[in-house]
Amino acid sequence: MKLAVAGKGGSGKTSISGTMARLLARDGRRVLAIDGDSNPNLALTLGIPHDRLTAMPTLPRDLLDRSGGGAVLTKTLDEIRASHSVEGPDGVTLLVMAHPQHAGTG
Ligand SMILES: Nc1ncnc2c1ncn2[C@@H]1O[C@H](COP(=O)(O)OP(=O)(O)OP(=O)(O)O)[C@@H](O)[C@H]1O
Ligand SMILES: [Mg+2]
Repeated sequence: MKLAVAGKGGSGKTSISGTMARLLARDGRRVLAIDGDSNPNLALTLGIPHDRLTAMPTLPRDLLDRSGGGAVLTKTLDEIRASHSVEGPDGVTLLVMAHPQHAGTG
């Protein structure tokens, strides 16, 4: 199952996403959370300290091969998860996409 949450600023996207992810993980499902926000803060909702994210490398540009017209991953999802994710207290795995350069909530 893949769930995408989008909507108006400040409408509760991060709160709902984090809560759903944690509840599903507590029920024993494998949950991979991806925060596509340019100011990512889903980690906070998942209970993952900021320090653990900044210690991780961000996703490299060559992860996508666009030479064939479309975009193709050059590594498997398991490989990406192994090198670019952290696990929260309820067992949610958060993919580390980028590091925020400024503080903020939302
Ligand atoms: N159900 C709710 N009841 C009351 N307050 C809520 C509820 N859900 C979220 N909030 C609060 O509303 C604010 C915005 O929530 P949240 O950060 O989840 O929204 P967002 O859509 O992710 O925002 P942004 O567009 O800035 O990323 C936060 O202060 C949050 O604590
Ligand atoms: Mg948000």
